[in-house]
Amino acid sequence: MLPSTAMAFHVFLIAALLLLPLPAAFSKAVRTQSLLANPLSPDPITQEQQLSLAAPRTNASTLHFRLAHREHFALNATASDLLAHLLARDAARAAALLAAPNNATRPRRRGGFAAPLLSGLPQGSGEYFAQVGVGTPATTALMVLDTGSDVVWLQCAPCRHCYAQSGRVFDPRRSRSYAAVDCVAPICRRLDSAGCDRRRNSCLYQVAYGDGSVTAGDFASETLTFARGARVQRVAIGCGHDNEGLFIAASGLLGLGRGRLSFPSQIARSFGRSFSYCLVDRTSSVRPSSTRSSTVTFGAGAVAAAAGASFTPMGRNPRMATFYYVHLLGFSVGGARVKGVSQSDLRLNPTTGRGGVILDSGTSVTRLARPVYEAVRDAFRAAAVGLRVSPGGFSLFDTCYNLSGRRVVKVPTVSMHLAGGASVALPPENYLIPVDTSGTFCFAMAGTDGGVSIIGNIQQQGFRVVFDGDAQRVGFVPKSC
Ligand SMILES: *[C@@H]1O[C@H](CO)[C@@H](O)[C@H](O)[C@H]1NC(C)=O
Ligand SMILES: *[C@@H]1O[C@H](CO)[C@@H](O)[C@H](O)[C@H]1NC(C)=O
Ligand SMILES: *[C@@H]1O[C@H](CO)[C@@H](O)[C@H](O)[C@H]1NC(C)=O
Ligand SMILES: *[C@@H]1O[C@H](CO)[C@@H](O)[C@H](O)[C@H]1NC(C)=O
Repeated sequence: MLPSTAMAFHVFLIAALLLLPLPAAFSKAVRTQSLLANPLSPDPITQEQQLSLAAPRTNASTLHFRLAHREHFALNATASDLLAHLLARDAARAAALLAAPNNATRPRRRGGFAAPLLSGLPQGSGEYFAQVGVGTPATTALMVLDTGSDVVWLQCAPCRHCYAQSGRVFDPRRSRSYAAVDCVAPICRRLDSAGCDRRRNSCLYQVAYGDGSVTAGDFASETLTFARGARVQRVAIGCGHDNEGLFIAASGLLGLGRGRLSFPSQIARSFGRSFSYCLVDRTSSVRPSSTRSSTVTFGAGAVAAAAGASFTPMGRNPRMATFYYVHLLGFSVGGARVKGVSQSDLRLNPTTGRGGVILDSGTSVTRLARPVYEAVRDAFRAAAVGLRVSPGGFSLFDTCYNLSGRRVVKVPTVSMHLAGGASVALPPENYLIPVDTSGTFCFAMAGTDGGVSIIGNIQQQGFRVVFDGDAQRVGFVPKSC
């Protein structure tokens, strides 16, 4: 038992703690986490750093394959070159996505083809590539994965126009499983931009991009194979004989959008309407090895991997059927809710199709409606008092720090809050990224005046992002690459 004076003192102390207002410094303690501040590597990328895309786990109910970031195909480029290219592609893609809802009018007919459809720009159409077998026997094709578009297509011989790709161009004349889609087939009518070759009764497709690049050719049905022999028959693909654009290295594109022609929609009957991907950090500081690469999974395994996920409802824009919308409510920085984030800046207007927030695999830097971005950025600046500011910004980033000479740096935490109670606590490398070889790191989000906000792939790094189309929800599983 305590002596009574000591007891009285304790009672006083407890009462004082309960009654007195807490000191300001204590109540405002900024929650931090440790960033490993590795600058960009000055060394160019070598052959040894290229990824093996062999997939380890594929079975009858689950397709599972590895993804490589497009930078793994850029031999001899340095990390700084790659960042400059990435930011240029990203600006083009963001501009195309922002314009898309405004341009989503019914296509005009013009000589069998409708007017150009906007579904992302070639330079920015997806940052991650996967290997897919096309036809019987299978030709290996490197395909861009893109949640921002639907149509699956690849370059086909004979080429009227083909750009340079890695590996052989697929030749449908050598495939036993290739079949043309006829003009009256319902799937042909699902194309926004369909045509008909009446002589052959063969459906024609065309996808044109914002900068005038285009892929056009026969719409066909083909077998796709994945590692370990998993086969998916009768996938409707565009066999592009006329392809003009800058789809560097890739043979074509695997559309992962929400529309009816996308790959997940087409395989829904056999595999269910779900897929998930995990994107590892693409930068040199955490260069992925073959044992730590990005993956995408379709089918049962996609949702099985979601144990412990934080889910939010998947939203839809009636005017932009391709995109995955989520309802972003706000942010916390340093453990405190960011004030001044107005819901009207983040909400989708279903009548006009403007506003809202989409989740995109092919945009790198998150774009937030400008007032929201400014509120989050100001909160970050206020919380990051211990970091040395690097004046002037970098490219589209306006908040940068000089972390030169420091290895481990305490930085304020950042979380996104989504409808349905989902909170996504970002790892530090998802919002403070190295932009040069000398230790400048920038807050990797930006403001936009385009109406729609985009959650980009830098902010998705390290999470398994589950697109659960069956339950109409999107999940984020931390630390699960
Ligand atoms: C990369 O550099 C090496 C050595 O300088 C050279 O042999 C090789 O051809 C280069 N590769 C490319 C793709 O430029
Ligand atoms: C899309 O709409 C924007 C503005 O509404 C316009 O500036 C742009 O030229 C349009 N793009 C296409 C390809 O029609
Ligand atoms: C297929 O693989 C997934 C994980 O990759 C697993 O969850 C599922 O149970 C497997 N199914 C069969 C039939 O082996
Ligand atoms: C960053 O800080 C270091 C001192 O720690 C200084 O030498 C260097 O010039 C600074 N870098 C820039 C870009 O200002």
